[in-house]
Amino acid sequence: MCLIYSIFAALFPTPYLMGAPKLKNPPILSLAPLAPSWDEIPTWADAVTQTLLQALRERDPYTYGHSLRVAHHSSLLAKAAGLNEFEQRIIAASSMFHDLGKLGIPDSVLLKPARLNAREEALMREHPTKSAEILAPLSQIPFFRSTLPGIRHHHERMDGEGYPDRIAGENIPLTARIILIADTFDAMTTNRPYRKALATEIAYKELKQFSGRQFDTHLVKIFLSAHPTWESIEESISDDFVAARFRRAA
Ligand SMILES: [Fe+2]
Repeated sequence: MCLIYSIFAALFPTPYLMGAPKLKNPPILSLAPLAPSWDEIPTWADAVTQTLLQALRERDPYTYGHSLRVAHHSSLLAKAAGLNEFEQRIIAASSMFHDLGKLGIPDSVLLKPARLNAREEALMREHPTKSAEILAPLSQIPFFRSTLPGIRHHHERMDGEGYPDRIAGENIPLTARIILIADTFDAMTTNRPYRKALATEIAYKELKQFSGRQFDTHLVKIFLSAHPTWESIEESISDDFVAARFRRAA
């Protein structure tokens, strides 16, 4: 285990970071009782989130839009997987923050209109750690602290070949496993300067092909059966999208 991870784990010793407890029948689709309560969402959470996202929008409009789309899909996946409304909000917030660390990636890498070389890829791979570092000052607030595991670990793979900590299987926080699916699906189905968007059906096939190795097999199954029923992103990402992620449904 690397030093930085050890320090991080010591500072935030939640079971998210330490990995799921080894139970006989682990409740893998529940975040309770780890999640804070609605009362612990500060009234200013929405404004801080919008400010952080606005900074990202100024720097890289694609990543801003991507973060909102990932929040939309990941919270719907969380819902389809049986997580409660508050847990869906934690997933949505984690998704909105997951790529904030790209603010710390040089323009020559972040905005490069071509595939990255090995050195650039290594720099880009620092972004989940940087995202968690940006959020760290807010970690004294339970709601924000609960977003850190999903942020830091959203590029881990089930086979342990991901980053930054190369953790595997159910040791990867559930929030991160959910975000990875929504993140990859959005990356595959949107146009990039170096690659055209894949058709939805092809993206489904990719998720299926890499389930078990990269993605959580159970969550991929849920995504594939639920995704065709979800309303389109254009209809759901309104001006009120961020604020609504912090409001309790009536
Ligand atoms: Fe990312």
